[in-house]
Amino acid sequence: MSGISGTQMAERQGVTDEAMIASVEPVLASFVRSVGLPRNLREAVEYALLEGGKRLRPLLSMHSAIAVGGTADDALPAAAAVEMIHAFSLVHDDLPALDNDDLRRGRPTVHKAHGEAMAILVGDGLMSIAFQLICERSSDAGLAGQLCAELAQGTTRMIAGQVLDTLGGHDAATDVERLRETHRQKTGALIVAACRMGAIAGMWRHGGRGGRGANGVREDDLLAVTRYGNAVGLMFQLVDDLLDVEQSTEQLGKRSGKDAEAGKLTYPVVMGVEASRMEAARLLEEARSSAQRLECGAGLIDLAEAMARRDR
Ligand code: IPE
Ligand code: IPE
Ligand code: MG
Ligand code: MG
Ligand code: MG
Repeated sequence: MSGISGTQMAERQGVTDEAMIASVEPVLASFVRSVGLPRNLREAVEYALLEGGKRLRPLLSMHSAIAVGGTADDALPAAAAVEMIHAFSLVHDDLPALDNDDLRRGRPTVHKAHGEAMAILVGDGLMSIAFQLICERSSDAGLAGQLCAELAQGTTRMIAGQVLDTLGGHDAATDVERLRETHRQKTGALIVAACRMGAIAGMWRHGGRGGRGANGVREDDLLAVTRYGNAVGLMFQLVDDLLDVEQSTEQLGKRSGKDAEAGKLTYPVVMGVEASRMEAARLLEEARSSAQRLECGAGLIDLAEAMARRDR
């Protein structure tokens, strides 16, 4: 390890987290404008996508690119595309047939503001626009193919996880196993995809030099990034479950206390609050040790710590 913090590391490259987020926002906005949507759909997509999100998945993509020796900019298309899939997942998650929520990011949910039919179509649209963005904005077709494959897998698993969460259908026998499987799929999979896509994009430009494999991708680095993503992905939903119990609606910008009301299988329900906190600490440690294997993993470590102690 270099002994410098991840923020300092990124600053050496001239990029703070704020600058990374600031570089993704115009990509999201301009791409949505470029695809020729009817005005009502465009406005609803912009409502779902452009304001109020923490942008953690783009940060994961960009820090993963830096961690393997690339730059934040290498991960821009990946970062924007994964945020679009995330926004789609939230719009559909909030629908009456799923979690039936009326507040998201401190504002009425998309179906409350634009109607249910539009919300369904906004989700559908964001999904296809995400893949379109990768195809049109990646530096070469080989990289685009690889990124699309990763994002498709993450999206399919997210949808499968939403089914387990909402409709059941688990193979697992115990509540703990069911919970872990649901959380890994509904939330972890897209977070893993964000990390892997960023790492692949960050390695790609090295073109097979320095002991790298085909297209510059080093499998041992990708494995460390994947392990990191798995740990922070599960930790992220675990913390979301805790916040639903412990924080106010005003603080979260979404209705708290919803999980218990809906009878959801969550970490606090299955393990209790104290054991859930210990599990979050264990996962943070797992993320930390995976990132330490990477040449420039300090930014990923800082981000995992911020994700563990978040309060919204
Ligand atoms: C909320 O995700 C949904 C989960 C997967 C737990 P975020 O907490 O990242 O939501 P935004 O994007 O910041 O609104
Ligand atoms: C959402 O989990 C997971 C998604 C795939 C969107 P939650 O249902 O707990 O997310 P929030 O609490 O509504 O943001
Ligand atoms: Mg849900
Ligand atoms: Mg929900
Ligand atoms: Mg939740």
